[in-house]
Amino acid sequence: MKVIFDTDPGVDDAMALRFLTRRPEFELLAITTVHGNLDVDTVTRNALWLAGWMGLSVPVARGAEAPLCRDAGRGAPHVHGAGGLGDLTLPDPLDRTADPRPAWQVIVDLVRAYPHQVTLIAVGPLTNLALALRHDPAIAGLVAGVSLMGGAFGMHGHTGNMSPVAEANILSDPEAADQVMTAPWPVSILGLDVTQQVVMDAAYLDRLGAQGGADGAFLRGVSRFYQAFHERSRGLAGIFAHDSLAVIHAMAPHLFTLRHGPVRVVCGGLADGQTIQKPDGFPCPPTAAWDAFPARAVAVDVDVAGVLALYAGT
Ligand code: BDR
Ligand code: CA
Repeated sequence: MKVIFDTDPGVDDAMALRFLTRRPEFELLAITTVHGNLDVDTVTRNALWLAGWMGLSVPVARGAEAPLCRDAGRGAPHVHGAGGLGDLTLPDPLDRTADPRPAWQVIVDLVRAYPHQVTLIAVGPLTNLALALRHDPAIAGLVAGVSLMGGAFGMHGHTGNMSPVAEANILSDPEAADQVMTAPWPVSILGLDVTQQVVMDAAYLDRLGAQGGADGAFLRGVSRFYQAFHERSRGLAGIFAHDSLAVIHAMAPHLFTLRHGPVRVVCGGLADGQTIQKPDGFPCPPTAAWDAFPARAVAVDVDVAGVLALYAGT
């Protein structure tokens, strides 16, 4: 499966990318970066370093530095560390540079080069995907799929992590998210409903570390700061897997229970960034706000043990 990884690394982004690049099911075509966990220059440096460390020879393209029509946010250094990759300090300068094209252009070029073959895995704010659609709306009919981490639909009590109703990736650019959710391409959504069910606890992370080699040491090392945040803020003895689920869904959809129906994003007001689905067959009169748009697959449940076993390679 040919994929473009759109990301704001970010500890869980890095852990997702590492999984993706170690699985034979995926052929990574490019990494595109976006504002989010930190400013776009910092996350682009992180992506370039990760690509070098993982031995990848794919383009890394810098993406949007701000949401479509709002000011850039402050990022989440308290979650991901001052540089975005936990306690890691990167060499300066790096021995790689970004592709000269903006991220949206790389997305358009690759989708056009491989019609109906490219899956977009998006694990940050959705600004780059919205910009790609704006520049070339026909790509919606040319992608194989979009698998994204974002949103929260209230299943199992999972509502928001940035407000009582909003998840971070969506709240970072609600207008872009609504455009991506309503565009005529096949979208699967992995929200907090499932990503907060998959907890990599300290023993699991220690086991990843004990697997040895550079990957084991990297995974254990990069996750420590993120783990401390989860312990402080959520009383959790581990971390939420978040972004890895968008990757795992792309290769193993059988591990998820999906609910179908159009999805909209609230843009503004008290519920800014809330994601809402009208499930197919929902008993209310049809309205253009919902029924003009295609059904999305929202993950409402997950085989937690299956996901953890797959990620660990067992
Ligand atoms: C999402 O927000 C970011 O902090 C993580 O990388 C993940 O993509 C979780 O809400
Ligand atoms: Ca992310």
